[in-house]
Amino acid sequence: MIESDSGRFILQKINKNVFKKPEEIMHNIKAVTTFIENKVIKTGGDPSKEALHLKNTLDGTGFYIDDSGEYWRMYDYIEGAKTYNTIDSPEIFKKVGKAFGRFQIRLMDYKSNTLYEAIPDFHNTPKRYADFKQAVLTDKTGKLEEANRQNDHPLTKAVYRLLACENEIKMLENGKKMGFFPIRITHNDTKINNVMINQKDTDKMCIIDLDTVGPDTALADYGDAIRSGTNRAGEVAENLEDVSMDMELFKAYTEGYLDEALVFDENGDLNDNPQKGLIKSEVEALHRAPRILTLELSMRFIGDYLNGNEYFKPKPGQPEDINLRRGLVQLHLADDMANKEKEMESFIKEYIERRKNRQNI
Ligand SMILES: Nc1ncnc2c1ncn2[C@@H]1O[C@H](COP(=O)(O)OP(=O)(O)OP(=O)(O)O)[C@@H](O)[C@H]1O
Ligand SMILES: [Mg+2]
Repeated sequence: MIESDSGRFILQKINKNVFKKPEEIMHNIKAVTTFIENKVIKTGGDPSKEALHLKNTLDGTGFYIDDSGEYWRMYDYIEGAKTYNTIDSPEIFKKVGKAFGRFQIRLMDYKSNTLYEAIPDFHNTPKRYADFKQAVLTDKTGKLEEANRQNDHPLTKAVYRLLACENEIKMLENGKKMGFFPIRITHNDTKINNVMINQKDTDKMCIIDLDTVGPDTALADYGDAIRSGTNRAGEVAENLEDVSMDMELFKAYTEGYLDEALVFDENGDLNDNPQKGLIKSEVEALHRAPRILTLELSMRFIGDYLNGNEYFKPKPGQPEDINLRRGLVQLHLADDMANKEKEMESFIKEYIERRKNRQNI
C-alpha cells in the first residue's frame, strides 16, 4: 500500500513467471474493471466499495514497465474492507458466494471473446487429462516405476484412478462446445481471500485479484470455489481421513451464489437467456462441477510430481513429495464429492423451489 496527498493506493508487480504475456493480462483487467465500475454505478451501487479502480497511466495502458522490465499497476485502495483467509462461519462463505454470483451477473452482457486467456487452456479438462497421461507415460523421474514395484503404493493407485476419469471430466468441455454452458467471463481464482468485504456494510463486496480473468464457463468458477472453500482440512492435510466437503459450507456458498446469479424468466421458470442469468442447462449441471475441478487439480498436482515438481515448485522446507500429497488430498476430496453428488443436486433443486415459491407470494 502507498499513501500520497491524493489518497491511498495498492501498487502491484505482475508475476511474469506465471503470466507470460503481461500486456494481455492488463488488457483484460482494464476492460473488466471499467465494465464492472460502470455497471455498479448504473445499478445504484457504491463503486468505491464494490469495484476495483485501476489507475490510468500517461500512455493510457494502465501499466508501467520499469527499467528492469518489470510490469507494475496501481489500484485505488478499498477502504474499510477485509479479506478472510479462513472461513470463520458459513455466513462468511455465503457472502463470498454472493460476491462471485454478483461478479458473474454484472459481467453477463460483456462479450467474452474480447478477452485473452490469461493462462491458455487453464480449465480445458481434456487437455489437462492429456498432459497428465503424458506425464504418466513418460515417468520422467522414475517415481511411478518405483511405486509400481511396491504393493498398493498410493501413487500407483491414484494414477490408475485418475486415468479412469477421462470421460467424466470431459463434461465441461463438451457442454461448452454444445452450447449448454455459454462462454462467460470467469475469475479463475475464486478463493475466499479474493473477496473484500466492507466491515460496516457487509453487503458491499469487491472481487479482487483479476490476473486470471478470462473466457470460460461459469461452472468452472463455481466448481473451483466449492473445491477450494469447503475442505476444512486444507490442501496439504496431514491425514487424508480429515479431508471432506463440508455440506454446510457447500450449501452456504451455493445459496449465496444462486441468490445473485440465478434469475427467473417472466413465467417464473429457469432462464434460457444467458445475458439475464445462469441458464437452465448450467444450473442443472452445477452439482457436477466441484468434482470435475477437483479431479483436474489432482491430475495437475500428481502430474507435476511425476514431472519433478516443475510447475508447483516446493517452497524451502516443504517435502519433495508435497505435490503427491496435495494430489492425494484432491483425489480424496473428489471421492467424497461423488458420494455427496445426489445431496448437492437435491439441495439445488430444493433451493430453486424455495425461490419460485418466494416469488409467487
Ligand atoms: N484495491 C485494494 N484495496 C485494499 N486492499 C487490497 C486491494 N487489492 C488487494 N488488497 C489486499 O492485498 C491482498 C493481496 O491482493 P491480491 O489478491 O490482489 O494479490 P495476490 O498477490 O494475487 O495475492 P494472493 O496470491 O494471496 O491471492 C488482498 O488479500 C487484500 O487484502
Ligand atoms: Mg489474491
